[in-house]
Amino acid sequence: MTQDELKAAVADKAISEIEPWLEKDTVLGIGTGSTANLFIDRLKPLRDQFKGAVASSEASAKRLEALGIEVFELNSVGTLPFYIDGADEVNAHLQMIKGGGAALTREKIVAACAERFICIADQSKYVSQLGNFPLPIEVIPMARSYVARQLVGLGAEPVYRQGVVTDNGNQIIDCYEFMIDDPVAMEATLNAIVGVVTNGLFAARGADILLLGNPEGVERIALR
Ligand code: A5P
Repeated sequence: MTQDELKAAVADKAISEIEPWLEKDTVLGIGTGSTANLFIDRLKPLRDQFKGAVASSEASAKRLEALGIEVFELNSVGTLPFYIDGADEVNAHLQMIKGGGAALTREKIVAACAERFICIADQSKYVSQLGNFPLPIEVIPMARSYVARQLVGLGAEPVYRQGVVTDNGNQIIDCYEFMIDDPVAMEATLNAIVGVVTNGLFAARGADILLLGNPEGVERIALR
């Protein structure tokens, strides 16, 4: 199976996971990226079974609206029953690196409001240690060089992601050569650097359920 076929399989599985719980007032949290896009596309036939969605990016919001799914501001809704999103890396504790698509801040905010985070990923994303994928950090533009120096001090090789402006008007630094031994502790350390808006470690609040696509099928790994 190709990677795209595996992504499609996990998107299908995520639909099966949430469909029994959909009610007329359900608002779903929806992530960003190619796997999330496949999930969004599969929501179209279900659109009359739930109220709408909160999106973690302008791109996902546009895709949802194009399918006739109403998009709500997060501030106008309460707790979301589900947040469904992909990952750049995920480990056995369902801790993740996210932000390859630069949407990490809104992803983390929407995930924080969700009762259940369902991570959908093909097997290439499953790792024993987070860090081979360069860890994205969203920074306030004027703090970029300062933050980069702090990252060097932590052992990373920071690289400014040229030409990318986040939905929040900020910039992204990617941390290369930065294997992470303790994701929860490193997430907190990075958050404490002045000028950092968000880092791409989703460890303090990881996923609750991982739907992992491999050629034998979709494995369901649930921690909670
Ligand atoms: C977006 O900022 C990311 O966090 C994505 O969720 C992540 O990059 C996964 O994307 P793909 O599904 O395209 O691999």
